[in-house]
Amino acid sequence: NVLILDFGSQYTQLIARRVRELNIFCEIFPYNNFPQDLSSFKAVILSGSPFSTRADDAPHPDLSQIRGKMPLLAVCYGAQYLAHFDGGEVGASSTREYGRANLSFIKDGEPFFANVPANSQVWMSHSDTIKKLPTGGIRLASTHDVENAAYKIEGETTYAIQFHPEVYHSTDGKQMLENFLVNIAEVPQNFTPNAFVEEIVSELQQKIGDDKVVLGLSGGVDSTVAAVLLNKAIGKNLYCIFVNNGLLRKNEFESVLHQYKDMGLNVKGVDASDRFLSQLAGIDDPETKRKTIGRVFIEVFDDEAHLLTDVKFLAQGTIYPDVIESVSVKGPSATIKSHHNVGGLPDFMKLQVVEPLRMLFKDEVRRVGATLGIDPELLGRHPFPGPGLSIRILGDITKEKVRILQDVDAIFIDGLKSWGLYDKVWQAGAILLPVNSVGVMGDERTYEKVVALRAVESTDGMTADWVHLPYDFLMKISNEIINKVKGVNRVVYDISSKPPATIEWE
Ligand code: XMP
Repeated sequence: NVLILDFGSQYTQLIARRVRELNIFCEIFPYNNFPQDLSSFKAVILSGSPFSTRADDAPHPDLSQIRGKMPLLAVCYGAQYLAHFDGGEVGASSTREYGRANLSFIKDGEPFFANVPANSQVWMSHSDTIKKLPTGGIRLASTHDVENAAYKIEGETTYAIQFHPEVYHSTDGKQMLENFLVNIAEVPQNFTPNAFVEEIVSELQQKIGDDKVVLGLSGGVDSTVAAVLLNKAIGKNLYCIFVNNGLLRKNEFESVLHQYKDMGLNVKGVDASDRFLSQLAGIDDPETKRKTIGRVFIEVFDDEAHLLTDVKFLAQGTIYPDVIESVSVKGPSATIKSHHNVGGLPDFMKLQVVEPLRMLFKDEVRRVGATLGIDPELLGRHPFPGPGLSIRILGDITKEKVRILQDVDAIFIDGLKSWGLYDKVWQAGAILLPVNSVGVMGDERTYEKVVALRAVESTDGMTADWVHLPYDFLMKISNEIINKVKGVNRVVYDISSKPPATIEWE
């Protein structure tokens, strides 16, 4: 187990992901709130930071329990921090050190750089530089502009690097992390999907015992994997509820429900389409749509949960990025979703929470899902927003508009699949615009709806590029939509990236 101390760098999560790629378990803690008992940790990594270590309000944690007592790797700010407070000197660099650089000097025979070729490319991102190494510091590497690009402390397993090994532009960064964690710190590489499943299943069994658990399935990857894990742990004491809000993709409710049953899950499908659509009638503001759907979902779920007796736990498919966000250096973030203030909590939200995936990144959830034998097609599904098609129908929502959009979306998504494009796209869907346009069909003038198609590439939804889908594909899909979907006479393709646009239109 590796401890990553976060000083607020945008790259901290990436460090954790690279460490996990080595099958080594790690946890991120904010520098100002980490466990006192460090006995379960075999090594510590200090992250970078937007701060200058010379600033008064910069993170200056007490590392006396760590430094010299266990293997320590200090990255960027961390490297400066160790220098600044222990006999070294940190100052503003004369040139801005940002972007690619090459290690023009690497100390011979240094295990940290084993299997790293001469001139290896690294990624720099800092405005301060280490002018003088700390007491006991031995220079291990330099670039053209940065003399002290890496150092270690004599007599300790303390290593410090100015560049970012976690960023892909640092070509041998993963090798260096492996050298440090596996060869120097001797951390076992035992965090595999199988090991995770075994451990979490026995943990869940201990925590839950013979009690009942309720879980809301969404058709998405996270809730599905959470359900299958819990099913493995406690079987029929897991009660899954899958709500149809009437805003899912075409035939999705029926087909996914069927799949869930085939997987042996104890699942109840609740078709609440009319309840959602009637509450949404006449609402055209995007945030009001979201709030309405959130509220109705809670009402429906609470009604269903009340039909069950003696339920003690509520299971959720929370994953690690959400957890990190809620304990970040900046404090609990304002973006954390909460539909209710504590006073008005519905009963099911007062249950004890179990979150079997709370330590996993999305790609790890997929791998665990594969280990559990979940259909790869289900695991490879594009992300789909909780409010579903409601935020892809611009303006107010009616049953007829949902029908039109479902038909258009199905042609687009099926087309992507049959052309072998689905897995090359991170997310795709169609948007029903609140405008009519003039067209001509046969000899008749038409005045019908316009739909936009959207397909993006992304890794986490934070930034996204529109996908250059083949013209032939777009031509075929456009024809098919206009010919088959009554009420649509024009198709456009969205060529905006995020930022400045967003993925969804609302
Ligand atoms: P945007 O439109 O913000 O979307 O670029 C980024 C990602 O988030 C999804 N999204 C949502 N997911 N509830 C959700 O569960 C929402 O209200 C919501 N809004 C956007 C969007 O589909 C994309 O994957």
